[in-house]
Amino acid sequence: MPIQVKICDTPDDVARAAASEIAGLVRQKPDAVLGLATGSTPVKTYAELVRMNQEGLSFSRLTTFNLDEYWGLDGTHPQSYRFFMNHAFFAGTDIQLWNTHVPNGTAVDADLECEAFETRIRACGGVDLWLLGIGRNGHIAFNEPGSAPDSRTRLVDLTKSTIAANSRFFERVDDVPKQALTAGIATICEAKRIILLATGKDKARVVARAVQGVPHSSCPASFLQTHSDCTFILDREAASEVSAAFNS
Ligand code: GLP
Repeated sequence: MPIQVKICDTPDDVARAAASEIAGLVRQKPDAVLGLATGSTPVKTYAELVRMNQEGLSFSRLTTFNLDEYWGLDGTHPQSYRFFMNHAFFAGTDIQLWNTHVPNGTAVDADLECEAFETRIRACGGVDLWLLGIGRNGHIAFNEPGSAPDSRTRLVDLTKSTIAANSRFFERVDDVPKQALTAGIATICEAKRIILLATGKDKARVVARAVQGVPHSSCPASFLQTHSDCTFILDREAASEVSAAFNS
């Protein structure tokens, strides 16, 4: 099934469109299971959801799963994804923290942690909607180029380009962890619905590759073409290299 492409005028419109779809799911299914992402792209979507929650849309029965976590950072580290999620989203809402799951970057045994993460998703009945971003090299979560479509939650090495891209959040490039726990491509593709957000000119090429190119591990996001219900919500800049034939 081709990836559906929705083009919005601005990054604010992307955030509103994504938040409004998530809100629609929550209204229909207050105990939905949401998959979430970190990175700078979804920040505005989370702010919009916080506003909706404060205006009365309850998230108290939601369960959430995050895609990934830096290996070696615990949840109190300001650059850990657990810390990010608590501050950018959870703390501003009535989401119950014990219903939120971010892989534990300081687990004693990485393999056991990854297995437990997958088991928890299954025990909750699977993810209803997974919100994704995309890395400049085509990664989704931390599934770097070379990742297999049947990959599951695991410990991975980060590529030099991802370490360089994410070093903007750290004081020094050497402070960026070299490994991470990440949900696999198969883990993500088992979600009933997937929304990927991308904004800005520097994502244009990789977005077009993911939507239009042959699915291949050189661009892990291209495997989303195999999902039956995946939409990319893009601003005009990120969509600038996508052929008009894909616009929905
Ligand atoms: C990180 C995360 C990804 C995210 C990507 C893009 O590497 N692991 O899940 O999609 O960054 O981030 P940004 O939205 O800041 O471009």
